[in-house]
Amino acid sequence: MDVFEAIKTRRSIRKYQNKPVEQEKLSKVLEAARLSPSAANRQPWRFIVVTDPEVKEKLRAAYNRDWFISAPVIIVGCALPHKAWVRSDGEEYWKVDLAIAMQSLILEAWEQGLGTCWIGAFREEEVKKALGIPEEARVVALTPLGYPAEEKGPVTNRSPLEEIVSYNHW
Ligand SMILES: Cc1cc2nc3c(=O)[nH]c(=O)nc-3n(C[C@H](O)[C@H](O)[C@H](O)COP(=O)(O)O)c2cc1C
Repeated sequence: MDVFEAIKTRRSIRKYQNKPVEQEKLSKVLEAARLSPSAANRQPWRFIVVTDPEVKEKLRAAYNRDWFISAPVIIVGCALPHKAWVRSDGEEYWKVDLAIAMQSLILEAWEQGLGTCWIGAFREEEVKKALGIPEEARVVALTPLGYPAEEKGPVTNRSPLEEIVSYNHW
């Protein structure tokens, strides 16, 4: 699968098979995050891999969906804002850095036949409490990871290029 094929066919998966993810595949998915670019190469990230059913259950307080909790793996993408690059006008880049790493992880997972679903609607304080995440860290995204138990066609519901691209002017 080439990169464009992965981008075109990846979908958010909200139903997972009860089948563990092989360590080799998990490592490759995490490696994709590790190799991602970040502003000034600060790599202001930590990824927490949750596989223990008791710990997963604790995450219910943060995002209460059965399909999320029952996935074999949950990956929690955290940022360390104090480590991240800040533009001269004060704009902070930690969220951008994390988003890039998460997308690398998500696309590599898809190539490995694994589904994910970016979760943004979580309660951050509950994630931090459940996983012992220090105060100075921020939780940017969660995703379940596992073999899909639903089939979805390629992406279709996106705005056409004419609506979102212009040349030389807004
Ligand atoms: C930043 C972000 C936050 C999201 N938060 C959630 C979420 O909290 N729960 C959920 O079920 N899906 C969430 N999604 C998934 C989107 O709903 C999904 O990507 C979008 O509808 C397009 O569908 P597709 O991923 O299947 O192409 C999120 C996606 C992104 C990029």
